[in-house]
Amino acid sequence: MYAIAVIVIAAIAYFLYRELYGKRKGLPPGPTPWPIVGNIFQLDFNRPEKSLIQWGKQYGPVFTIWMPLPFVIVNDYELMKESFLKQGDIFVGRPKTFLLNDIAKGNYGLVFARDELWREQRRFALHTLRDFGVGRNMLEPKILDQARELISILHSTKGPTQLKPALAFAVGNVINVMVVGYAWKFGDQKMEEFRTTLEEFGMAATKPTIFLLELYPWIRFLEPPFNIGYKRLKEINDHFRSFFIEEIRKHKETLDENQPPRDYTDAYLIEMNKRIKAGNQGSFTERQLMFAMGDIWAAGMDTTVNTLRYAILYLLNYPKVLKKLHEEMDEMVGRERELSMNDQKILPYLCATIEEVQRLGSLGAIGLQRTVTEDVVVGGYRLPKETIVVPQLPSIHLDEKFFPDPYTFSPERHIDANGRFVKNEHILAFSIGKRACMGESLARMELFLFLGSLVQHCDFRPADGKTPPPFKVITGIIQCPAPYECVIIPRT
Ligand code: HEM
Repeated sequence: MYAIAVIVIAAIAYFLYRELYGKRKGLPPGPTPWPIVGNIFQLDFNRPEKSLIQWGKQYGPVFTIWMPLPFVIVNDYELMKESFLKQGDIFVGRPKTFLLNDIAKGNYGLVFARDELWREQRRFALHTLRDFGVGRNMLEPKILDQARELISILHSTKGPTQLKPALAFAVGNVINVMVVGYAWKFGDQKMEEFRTTLEEFGMAATKPTIFLLELYPWIRFLEPPFNIGYKRLKEINDHFRSFFIEEIRKHKETLDENQPPRDYTDAYLIEMNKRIKAGNQGSFTERQLMFAMGDIWAAGMDTTVNTLRYAILYLLNYPKVLKKLHEEMDEMVGRERELSMNDQKILPYLCATIEEVQRLGSLGAIGLQRTVTEDVVVGGYRLPKETIVVPQLPSIHLDEKFFPDPYTFSPERHIDANGRFVKNEHILAFSIGKRACMGESLARMELFLFLGSLVQHCDFRPADGKTPPPFKVITGIIQCPAPYECVIIPRT
């Protein structure tokens, strides 16, 4: 009996030692993790970027949090450049996770792809998106088509209105035209269903219990009675994927390989067939295509829509900025002529406003996880191959060294003494290094043309005429403004 008690006490002591100290040896310091759950319940899941800034002040430019897997957080601009940029080839991995394996049967697609598959597929995607006009003038008329529709939808609204459905329609159509070749009509049932599925996925994937699954996959069997969120996540994922399976089927039926590709899906199928014929299929498969389509959608939709929603939320709260934008637009472009990307040169205040919205509206409250592809030293700590590292972008955007009074919204900080817009190297909204956003030039075009058109043709007022909506956020895969309404007044 006595011997059993000694063994149990020793086992508990060893377990606690390992959980609280042993497993942390060699990694950068950080908040003490609780046994089993790590720091999950110490992190403020509503405002994770604030917890991480606070821990950065306590533990320095690089620290570890346990989610419950260890995430090494790089929280300092110079260190981020030193590692993610200067040693770019090492900081390009993505973690292999239980969830990816379970849901996708591996690291497919573009966002979570890794190793040779990622290199081959990123190269192809960038090349193909360029062929469809991304980063070139060819895309401008397609975005302007959607901007015209967007303005006409907003002009037809009466009374307090949510901007989200109309913005999602415009941004979603730009992606849909590129990926599957057609645009939806506003209010289309299929589009609504698709949009809400995507949004729900973003929320479901970041429940604390979903993080726990990574280390304790067996907890999924506790549902029901416990609400782990695993079943729902799988259902949403299957629903989301079914859309792409159907599109691939339709494209295969109508594909004419002798004609130029109609869209990304055609281009991919043509490349895949060419490679199969040459006996060199590599990573080109229908499964990979399905995940790549989903990733272009998932990465390009909520990011752009919510940046625009943040922008209008700020303008409602800072009416003087909105007034200055209107004045600049009226003076330099007027209300008749259609905007173009060339107008960036003559609309410095609009460019500065977009820059400031991207700085303050922290979409990625916790940066996307990377892994290191070999052993490497970060901030004096040797990290073994496959360690998860996170470039914590909001910590740079809110660093008072670079942005005095960092929580104040001030486009003026991006305008020089001669009234010109100055880009700030410390704004890393599209991230840093070789895994930085693949859609940056598309997103920049959309932000300029959509926000510019909104300013040109609309005035925005608080729903009750005087109280602007509060800065409440909802945090999922991305952090976005809570639903808010405003009144849209046409500027004719
Ligand atoms: C305002 C809009 C956008 C913002 C703020 C944004 C931001 C980001 C960020 C922070 C990352 C993570 C990079 C990392 O691992 O550190 C990323 C990755 C990515 N983005 Fe965007 N993005 C936007 C729009 C788009 C659009 C329109 C597309 C569509 C083509 C897109 C496609 C991607 C893809 C495919 C990746 C994964 C790249 C890789 O892992 O190699 N994004 N984006």
